[in-house]
Amino acid sequence: DQKINILAIESSCDDTAAAVLTNDKILSNIVATQEVHQQYGGVVPELASRAHQQNIVPVIHQALSKANMDKSQLHAIAFTRGPGLMGSLLVGTSFAKSLSLGLGIPLIEINHMQAHILAHFIDEKEFDKPTFPFLAMTISGGHTQIVKVTSYFTMEVIGQTIDDAVGEAFDKSAKILGLPYPGGPLIDKYSKEGNPKAFPFTRPKVGGLDFSFSGFKTAVLYFIQKQLKEDPQFIEKNLEDICASIQYTIVDILMHKLKKAVKETGIRQVAIGGGVSANSGIRNALQDAEKKYGWKCFIPKFEYTTDNAAMIGIAGYYKFLEKDFADFSATANSRYKI
Ligand code: KG4
Ligand code: ZN
Repeated sequence: DQKINILAIESSCDDTAAAVLTNDKILSNIVATQEVHQQYGGVVPELASRAHQQNIVPVIHQALSKANMDKSQLHAIAFTRGPGLMGSLLVGTSFAKSLSLGLGIPLIEINHMQAHILAHFIDEKEFDKPTFPFLAMTISGGHTQIVKVTSYFTMEVIGQTIDDAVGEAFDKSAKILGLPYPGGPLIDKYSKEGNPKAFPFTRPKVGGLDFSFSGFKTAVLYFIQKQLKEDPQFIEKNLEDICASIQYTIVDILMHKLKKAVKETGIRQVAIGGGVSANSGIRNALQDAEKKYGWKCFIPKFEYTTDNAAMIGIAGYYKFLEKDFADFSATANSRYKI
């Protein structure tokens, strides 16, 4: 049995990340989060590209040294081709190509959204791997999709957001409440002390397995503006209840479509991925669904939920096994489809 060493690079948004794997095992998983965006209340693409360029060499050095691996031992370089911010993707893509050329080893291009799903195949003691076919719901700051996964690289998007991503619904609601960016984790934190039924928000009406979150964000905005007119201290007095109500509604919207997807496909294995899968509300709802509906749910280890290169590496490993290599004409694709 062959041991394949892969260096993986991820630079699609605002995290510069590198990981080293031997087969499906993670030897190192380094992420440099860019603090520069916090003061702007969101990711500034131009600043993200610049920070990637500064971070990429140190992050890769750190990943190799933590894995105790010399670059001469590598068998391939895997990189994120898209989707993501163009300027950010270009940094990782160009760097991966140069390194592959310099070392004379194959280059493997990876779809970031497929990688979020394939993160479930990383070898981790306490985590079961799903079996095919399964449903995956990718929930992040940039995406909201339900995907039917029939093999490592046969994936079909069966539902997706028609406007904002679910992470944006969390972050924009948080911004309305005056919380810093990214507000998703803070909504989660305050929710734990609040009453989820305190303030009912209406659910979007969108057909099939698709999602919509832009109306929800507006509903939160109007509700808060109206309450502030009556009581300028409304947010301070009710922060926990407001957060719990927002989270409850968002989780309910996600679970409603997921249940529909299970019903339509007859597939009862459900995996989640992306930053929002760190949310305690969605985690609890999935655990309940295991008991209530007999689903088998897969929630990734925390460090593989938000953007990371380990997931790019595991996807790279399975492409390596299929000898699915990219050539040097490979380009970044900001709208790369699953
Ligand atoms: O996957 P990710 O790191 O980056 C993207 O590809 O977008 O996801 C980041 C998103 C942000 O919107 C952040 O607020 C959200 O994930 N997030 C959460 C939680 N942790 C991260 N949202 C709700 N609850 C959380 N605990
Ligand atoms: Zn992501």
